[in-house]
Amino acid sequence: MTQAKHDLVVIGSGPGGYVAAIRAAQLGMNVGCVENEPALGGTCLRVGCIPSKALLESSERYHEAKETLAPHGVRVASVSLDLPTMLKRKDEIVRGLTGGVDMLFKKNKVARYLGRGKIAGPGRVVVEGGAEPATLEAKHVLIATGSKSASLPGVALDGDRVATSTEALAYPEVPGHLAVIGAGYIGLEMGSVWLRLGAKVTVIEYLDRVLPGMDAEIATEALRLFKRQGMEFRLGQKVTGARAEGKGAIVACEGQEPLRADRVLLAVGRVPNTEGLGVESVGITPDEKGRIPVDEHYRTSAEGVFAIGDVIGGAMLAHKASEEGVACVEWIATGYGHVNYNAIPGVVYTQPEIASVGRTEEELTAEGRAFRKGVFFFRGIGRSRALGQIDGRVKILADQATDRLLGVHIIGARAGDLIAEAVAAMEFGASSEDIARICHAHPTLAEAVKEAALAVDGRPIHA
Ligand code: NAI
Repeated sequence: MTQAKHDLVVIGSGPGGYVAAIRAAQLGMNVGCVENEPALGGTCLRVGCIPSKALLESSERYHEAKETLAPHGVRVASVSLDLPTMLKRKDEIVRGLTGGVDMLFKKNKVARYLGRGKIAGPGRVVVEGGAEPATLEAKHVLIATGSKSASLPGVALDGDRVATSTEALAYPEVPGHLAVIGAGYIGLEMGSVWLRLGAKVTVIEYLDRVLPGMDAEIATEALRLFKRQGMEFRLGQKVTGARAEGKGAIVACEGQEPLRADRVLLAVGRVPNTEGLGVESVGITPDEKGRIPVDEHYRTSAEGVFAIGDVIGGAMLAHKASEEGVACVEWIATGYGHVNYNAIPGVVYTQPEIASVGRTEEELTAEGRAFRKGVFFFRGIGRSRALGQIDGRVKILADQATDRLLGVHIIGARAGDLIAEAVAAMEFGASSEDIARICHAHPTLAEAVKEAALAVDGRPIHA
C-alpha cells in the first residue's frame, strides 16, 4: 500500500485535470494525479477530440483524392481505401500524445497514480483497482473526472452494432448504412468520417434543426451543405429504441417507420462522471443532472475540494476544462484566477468547419438586446477561390450602441482557426470597427472576417 502526502491531488487526467496538475506544479505545489486508464489524457486524447480529428483528416484526404482533385488538374488514377492503415495512424497519434502527457508529468514532477480515485473523507483520496492501492493525503482535491456518453431509454448498447463514439472511432469495416442518433457535435463529425469513407449515413435528430445551441442561420447553412454531401437527415424524430438484429441493427422512431442500418451510433450528449467518486463522504450532492455544484472559484460545498470541466456542467469542451483547471489552481496558489465564459469558442470539425464565440442572434433577440449584424460570404474572397472552397460565411454581431462585439459565427474552410481572431478581439473588448481597421494579409481567408466587420457598418468592399 502506497501512502503519500500532496498539496493537490487531481482526480482525472483529461485536458482539465492534466493541465491543472502541470500548472499547479509550476506554481510550486507538490501534485499527484489519479487516473484509472493506463494512458493519460482522458476522453479527449484517447477516444475523443484527437482520434476523431485524425480520422476526419484522413477521411478528408481520401475524399479529396477521389472527388475534388480533378478540377485542380490533378489526375489520380485509382484511389482505394486502406482502413487498417488509417486506423493505425490514428492510434499512433493518440499514443504519441498520451505518452507526451506522461513526459510532461515527469518533467513537472507530478506523481501519477494508476487506479480509480475515490474521496474517502476530508483531505483523503484512496486509489483502488490499479496495480497498487494507495492512500493519499491532500490539502486540496480537484475533481476533473469528465463525462461519459449519455444513454437513451430503449437503446440497447451492445458495444458493436449499437454503440457510442468510442466504437465509431474503430469500426473494422466501412458500414454499408450508418444510423446516427443525434445531430450534435459528435453525430455530425463521426457521421462525416464514415460518409466520406463510403457509408450511407442517416442522422436522426429530435429537434427540427442540427447543432442545437449554435446560431440558427449558420446551422441552417450547415444542414444544406451536409445534405449536398449526401448525408441524410430525419429531423423532428424522436428515437425511442435501438437494438442489434442479425448482422445489423434497427432503430425505432416515434410515429415513424423503423430504420434498418448496419450500425447505430448513439450521440445524444454526455453526462458527468461522478459514480463511485465518494463525493458524499465529504457532503457533496450532485445536482439532478449529476453535475457537481461549484462557486466562481470552482469550490464545492466541501472545504478543500474543487471541481472543473465536464463534471461541473457548462459547455463540455476540452479547452473550457483546461481554462478552468488553470484558473482553479491559480486561485488556490495566488488568490487570482478567472475564466471569461463569453469568450470560449466552439468548433465543429466537419467540412466545412463551423466555429463560434459569444452570443447567437437568437440569444440576443431573446434578451431584447439591440445589435447590428454583418455577414460576408467566402465566395467573395480570392483565397477561397484559389482553395476551391467557396462555401460558407462569416457573421458578426455587434452592440447597436457601442459596436462592441457580441458574437462571431463562421461556417467555412478553416473556420476553427479563423475564430481565434474573434476570440482575441472579444477578450480585449473590441468593436467591429476595430476588426474592420486591422490589416489582414491578402490573400487569406481571414479577409472574410474583416469584410464581415465592415459589413456591420454597411461598407464591405467585395460585396
Ligand atoms: P450534443 O448535445 O452536441 O448533441 C446531441 C443531439 O442529440 C442533440 O441535437 C439532441 O437534440 C439530440 N437528441 C437527444 N435525444 C434524442 C432522441 N431521443 N432522438 C433523436 N435525437 C436526440 O451531444 P454530442 O454530439 O453527443 O456531444 C457531446 C458533447 O461532446 C457535447 O457537449 C460537445 O460539446 C462535446 N464534443 C465537442 C466536440 C468539439 O468540440 N468539436 C466534438 C465532439 C463532442
